[in-house]
Amino acid sequence: MNKSITVAKTAGFCFGVDRAVKIAYETAKEQTDKKIYTLGPLIHNPSVVADLEKRGIGVINSPSEAKEGDTVIIRSHGVGRAVFDELKDRGVNIVDATCPFVTKIHKLVAERTAKGELVLIAGDREHPEVQGILGWTESSAVCDNSGEGDAEVFPNCVELVKLLRKNCEKSKKGVAILSQTTYNIVMWNQCIRAISEFSTEDVTVYDTICTATEKRQSEAESLSRKCDTMLIIGGRNSSNTKKLYDICSANSRCFLIEDSRELKDIDFSTAESVGISAGASTPAYIIEEVKKDMTEILSNEEEFNFEEAMEQSLKKIYTGKRVSGVVTAVNSTEIIVDIGTKHTGYIPLSELSADPNAKPEDVVKVGDTIDVIVTKLNDVEGIAMLSKKQVDAQKGYDDVKKAYESGEVLTGTVTNIIKGGVIVTTSGMRVFVPASQTGVRAADSMDTLLKKEVRFKIIELNEQRKRAVGSIRKVTAEERAQRGEAFFETAEVGQTVMGEVKSITDYGVFVDVGGVDGLVRRMDLTWARIKHPSDVVSVGDRIEVTIKDIDKETGKVSLVYKKTEDNPWVIFEKNYSVGQTVEVKIVSITAFGAFAQIIPGIDGLIHISQIANQRVANVADFLSVGDVVTAKITDCDIANKRVSLSIRALLPEGEYKPAKETAPAEDEAEEAETEE
Ligand code: F3S
Repeated sequence: MNKSITVAKTAGFCFGVDRAVKIAYETAKEQTDKKIYTLGPLIHNPSVVADLEKRGIGVINSPSEAKEGDTVIIRSHGVGRAVFDELKDRGVNIVDATCPFVTKIHKLVAERTAKGELVLIAGDREHPEVQGILGWTESSAVCDNSGEGDAEVFPNCVELVKLLRKNCEKSKKGVAILSQTTYNIVMWNQCIRAISEFSTEDVTVYDTICTATEKRQSEAESLSRKCDTMLIIGGRNSSNTKKLYDICSANSRCFLIEDSRELKDIDFSTAESVGISAGASTPAYIIEEVKKDMTEILSNEEEFNFEEAMEQSLKKIYTGKRVSGVVTAVNSTEIIVDIGTKHTGYIPLSELSADPNAKPEDVVKVGDTIDVIVTKLNDVEGIAMLSKKQVDAQKGYDDVKKAYESGEVLTGTVTNIIKGGVIVTTSGMRVFVPASQTGVRAADSMDTLLKKEVRFKIIELNEQRKRAVGSIRKVTAEERAQRGEAFFETAEVGQTVMGEVKSITDYGVFVDVGGVDGLVRRMDLTWARIKHPSDVVSVGDRIEVTIKDIDKETGKVSLVYKKTEDNPWVIFEKNYSVGQTVEVKIVSITAFGAFAQIIPGIDGLIHISQIANQRVANVADFLSVGDVVTAKITDCDIANKRVSLSIRALLPEGEYKPAKETAPAEDEAEEAETEE
């Protein structure tokens, strides 16, 4: 076939519209308990609007229609400040899907008019985007044709010139000229040229035409020069679609159509090259359909394949039939599938996957061959509604049944948290896992499982209702038991292993060392004095422990966390010796002396006879807990873990020197304070 069809790369959803559509679908998913509306149709496309309605998103035309607690989505065109205020006053939850490029214009208009400047906007006064822009002027009450107020709208350069002349006679502080994002680029350039006759001192021009529009318009313009026929797809009430049509009409035979059904009314007998572009609200699947039908129309009689046509006509489909098809388009609302018949096959998103969180592009891609079930046929319109989910669910059920019979472990993703448990989706089949079988402790939230991949076993199957109940806990318990067996086979006393702290009690810490929870008793946790085992470790810590004892009969394992090299007696022996003078801290007082800490874990005794050079009747008269004193190591019995200290040994013979001299007596301290 020599005839050609070229689809413009920029045809279809622009960034702002795509974003708004995604926001709307997300909102429908997240706010199932609320009434959701768009303020005006979200986009100029009836099929998308109808699909949104199916998902619970209605359309209201005025903020006054919304009630307290409702959710209202602001579409990409944006709205004026007053609309936001009214919605807020009504207690409405606002979801702002205004295109960021439009929001930028709102800010610009607010800033300029606040400075007293006149804002002149190139565009269509009645267009919702322009209405929204006008709603951000300082006074918010301007915009008539009288020339009074903060802002004016002009449709073309002739009107702009008139407005500028009128303004010259007034005392405005300056003029800012900007445009609707979808304004015709050719007309905008004419306006720029027209401005040159005025003093540019007080006139500032802001190019606010969206580059998406600019690119779409210029690509369509260049395509229309190359093709003898142009098809512009989009809503007849869509301003940017109409502009594309106007631009292309200047260069070729041009038709504005809303979808492929209108192709039959056009005579393509002379068409050799057809160019296709589409407005910003046209979904990809509509463009794809037009392209597909155009390909058929342009096929000439010579290329007519009789056998193929026969085969097609014999290939009958009916509701409930399972057929294979090739994915030809993936968009945010549906998947188009070529099922090899005259029908256009659609899989609505709700019929694509059992996982409500799955993105269409993650499930299928263009070119994939997939099995689907026909759920509805419309021969008049040539539409076949399809379901991939049902095919998956059938296959999933077979897998689940097999796994139930064999005890096989399945893998799936947690797709929903529901009352009493979670839903795990595996191969398109939804399996209920009761809360008690999730392995999540009753005190903890099951939310942590959402979207996680889990391994589970089927513990119950209802063949009639095709429902299954699963257990994640069963798998983890079995695997743990296996790991436990392996542990007891290889574990030896003295072996060092890594483990995870599972729980902490007053008497010690339980550590999972691989299928077995071993106990580290408090005394084996650290050499230091502690108030509680939680001073040393926390639940979830990965720690290295040494196996102290194993009882395979009872399955009990004792562990040690403290390290030999940290043993204070080892440290003491290495660094201290008899006769050495040390700074020590009094930690306890007894009738026969005081204990003083030399290093953490080693306390030496200062016997009552070794405290001073005089007879000491009461230890507390000389020493208090917390005092730091200098003492001499006079004896050391490592085997029995005893160290003797003496303060007296450091005092000159016959000289009285109380150990507490570093801390002034109470009355002395008071005296000092008074003097100060
Ligand atoms: Fe935004 Fe440009 Fe589209 S302004 S809505 S991205 S045409």
